[in-house]
Amino acid sequence: MKRKAKQVPACRNWKNSQWAVEVKKAEKFPPAGTGIGGIDVLYIGIDLGTSAVKLLLMDSEGKIHNIVSREYPLYFPRPGWSEQDPEDWWEQTVAGMTELLRGADKSRVSGISFGGQMHGLVILDEKDQVIRPAILWNDGRTFEENDYLNNVIGRERLSEYTANISFTGFTAPKLLWVKNKEPENFVRIRRIMLPKDYIAYRLTGVHCTDVSDASGMLLFDVKNRCWSREMCEICGVSEEQLPRCCESSEKVGTVLPEIAARLGIPENVAVAAGAGDNAAAAVGTGTVGDNMCNISLGTSGTIFISSEKFGVDRNNALHSFAHADGHYHLMGCMLSAASCNKWWMDEILGTKEYAAGQQEISADRLGENKVYFLPYLMGERSPHNDPNARGAFIGMTMDTTRADMTQAVLEGVAFALRDSLEVARSLGIRLERTKICGGGAKSPLWRKMIANILNLKVDIIESEEGPALGGAMLAAVACGEYPSVEAAAGKIVRIVETLEPEPALVAKYDARYEIFRKIYPACKGLYDIMNGCP
Ligand code: XUL
Repeated sequence: MKRKAKQVPACRNWKNSQWAVEVKKAEKFPPAGTGIGGIDVLYIGIDLGTSAVKLLLMDSEGKIHNIVSREYPLYFPRPGWSEQDPEDWWEQTVAGMTELLRGADKSRVSGISFGGQMHGLVILDEKDQVIRPAILWNDGRTFEENDYLNNVIGRERLSEYTANISFTGFTAPKLLWVKNKEPENFVRIRRIMLPKDYIAYRLTGVHCTDVSDASGMLLFDVKNRCWSREMCEICGVSEEQLPRCCESSEKVGTVLPEIAARLGIPENVAVAAGAGDNAAAAVGTGTVGDNMCNISLGTSGTIFISSEKFGVDRNNALHSFAHADGHYHLMGCMLSAASCNKWWMDEILGTKEYAAGQQEISADRLGENKVYFLPYLMGERSPHNDPNARGAFIGMTMDTTRADMTQAVLEGVAFALRDSLEVARSLGIRLERTKICGGGAKSPLWRKMIANILNLKVDIIESEEGPALGGAMLAAVACGEYPSVEAAAGKIVRIVETLEPEPALVAKYDARYEIFRKIYPACKGLYDIMNGCP
């Protein structure tokens, strides 16, 4: 039997909506993951990342048939700025899809969806031309606008309107920056969108986004899952300029005929709204429903805690966002995670032999390192919200080795993730285990550090493809293959191994964490002086 894709009404409390009732009914459908109309079909997940776009081809049962990745440049035109050209995203996505589908039965492609780098500002004019390069999630230029939002508009009001405060990388301060610093561009804005939404727009001609990604704009009323009128006024934009906001597994359109012809896929291929990369990664690792955790060790590092109920961290150190499963999540985000290791290995040690570097760190060295590293190479988001923070090594002596410093880099990232976990613990959240994904998660050593520094069981899943897999799963739900995101995760995600924390090592790392957490406050004044702040 062919299940009908369901449309979710945008911008209202969807749990009480007709669509939610439909989802409940659909749960009684015959076995999910057996194809559409009896035919085993294919879904494409697109993870529009910061260094590359990763594309994944999955079948009805969740089996991965192919994965390809295409890089594009990242520009740092001034210190603290971070930009990309949306045309590069589009070109590499199309080239990647062509490569992905080589040798596959293209007529079986039924759905496409996304995970995408969050918070980036993409603006289009009347002629649908991109007005300026996209300003990315790790861009720190908006400190004045960020300060205005947090201290003049005020954290309390922001939190009331959006469930969050402002961070330099969020989208609203970027809009204010364009308004203040590039007024000639601001007046030309017809459409505002996030990175993955630009790809959806080019594929379908539909201007839309999803609730998880919209949450990171600081223009979105997360609790009620709709745009905030107050925030639109504060930023000087109208709702007409913003995308239609959908649930992540909602079908937003079909691939345009000329694109379908170019790719050799059917014209009726459904495109689902998709999710911000962290929510998509959570879907891809089965972090859905209540009180589940996923850690992502990518360019950024995140700790993502799913929740069936809406909730806000009283200090707003953790983000409170809508989840792609129809519920909510809390998230701590550090701006540099696996990118710290990449910087240390590529730029400083001048090697690409990451695994060899980590082999020097034998098990008996864990918990013994005297060197500490602060991973704030792009400033820091959670929990410090400090664009002036910088990287630092401390604790070296004449006998410090290169291995100690490599170890300190990996441990520094894990300690910084623990900072966010401690905020969650202070809110009464009790976690026993986490999933893990992202490039850094391939390192057994780093996984062991995470398990012992955060004192969490780490569940290793069969495919740690995170956002790309999550994107493909959202497409499958949109096509009616699975009745809900949770049903898709239940069927597709498999745990293959669990890493248990070792009590003796946990105790050693607890002691070291007590030192680590004192280093940032000790450096803070210095960072402000170094950045010319009084
Ligand atoms: C999350 C965040 C990053 C980016 C990376 O808030 O800013 O994880 O989404 O792509």
